[in-house]
Amino acid sequence: MAAYVPGEQPKPSELGRLVKLNTNESPYPPSRKVAAAVKRAAGGLRVYPDPGQRRLRRLAGKVYGFRPESVLGGNGSDELLALIGRAFVRERGTIMTMRPTYLVYETVAAGLGTKLVEVPFTREYGLPSGLARKKADVFYLANPNSPTGTAVWPDEVEAFAKRFRGLVVVDEAYADFSRFNCLALARKMPNVLVLRTMSKSFSLAGLRLGLALGPAEVIAVLAKLKDSYNLSGLQLAAAEAALGDMGHVRRNVRRIVTARARLSRELVARGFLVLPSESNFVMFHLGERLAKKLGDGPGAVKALRRRGVLVRHYPGAGLRDALRVTVGTEKEIDRFIEALDAVAR
Ligand SMILES: Cc1ncc(COP(=O)(O)O)c(C=O)c1O
Repeated sequence: MAAYVPGEQPKPSELGRLVKLNTNESPYPPSRKVAAAVKRAAGGLRVYPDPGQRRLRRLAGKVYGFRPESVLGGNGSDELLALIGRAFVRERGTIMTMRPTYLVYETVAAGLGTKLVEVPFTREYGLPSGLARKKADVFYLANPNSPTGTAVWPDEVEAFAKRFRGLVVVDEAYADFSRFNCLALARKMPNVLVLRTMSKSFSLAGLRLGLALGPAEVIAVLAKLKDSYNLSGLQLAAAEAALGDMGHVRRNVRRIVTARARLSRELVARGFLVLPSESNFVMFHLGERLAKKLGDGPGAVKALRRRGVLVRHYPGAGLRDALRVTVGTEKEIDRFIEALDAVAR
């Protein structure tokens, strides 16, 4: 098993001269209300935070259309992914996921010593027929998917979940950038849980805040298993303030979706094969000539790094010559395109 290696996080001193388009952070700052709330909460650090996360669960429930008992906060969605594995995978059980996808699912399975079944997507990045007949305790579906940026329609997820015997975890880290999501399914189906994160559309990757939304029975199991104080008082205050400024999130999402269209157009105009993205990043294939010249995806990452632009390559079938690039500001996209043109020359 390949250990999960997170994308490069440059030293603060390097950040000014690098264009960081490798880990799908937002290029925009979070709502100003967040810093003000953290400052206020800092005055109360003498006491423990609310282990029941009552205010957070109530506010998030309001934003996403769930009752508070159907919501739980985690230390990033990564914590929730691990918690779900611990709670719902039986001894000698199985975790199922798609391939290629978010590498943390593999890490969760390895941590539990659980069998991992990775099912390849169809050529169009859809769910293959017969998937629901496979047996697994938990199915992790990143939707929109990373690293491809592609998404499966909720109808397809619903048809699958109706026939699948285990828990369907729809990891919607990027759903704010998509035309659709599975929240309605998580409200009505007993085996569908949706995960959201504040790391992308909320511009709060450093905060570490994820949300699980779904059946109250499932949430109750997770709430029982989590560390009592899995979220600090500062995290709670920041997350609550962020949920109180959804206008800020929506404005930034609109800017990113507009910039994504431009980035895709620029790549298509240069002859690259671009996957249709529902996310805040775009995956594209370099093509045979350029892949050969640069040394496939890894060589291209290094060549762009030398020009001050960080992007990401993922190993895996069909992705040898592919790069994933986060949608930055218009200026950052200019820098990326300039660097790409220079290395392609
Ligand atoms: C599909 C997917 N899920 C979850 C996460 C992690 O979210 P968090 O920062 O909330 O742990 C990522 C981060 O890149 C992701 O791509």
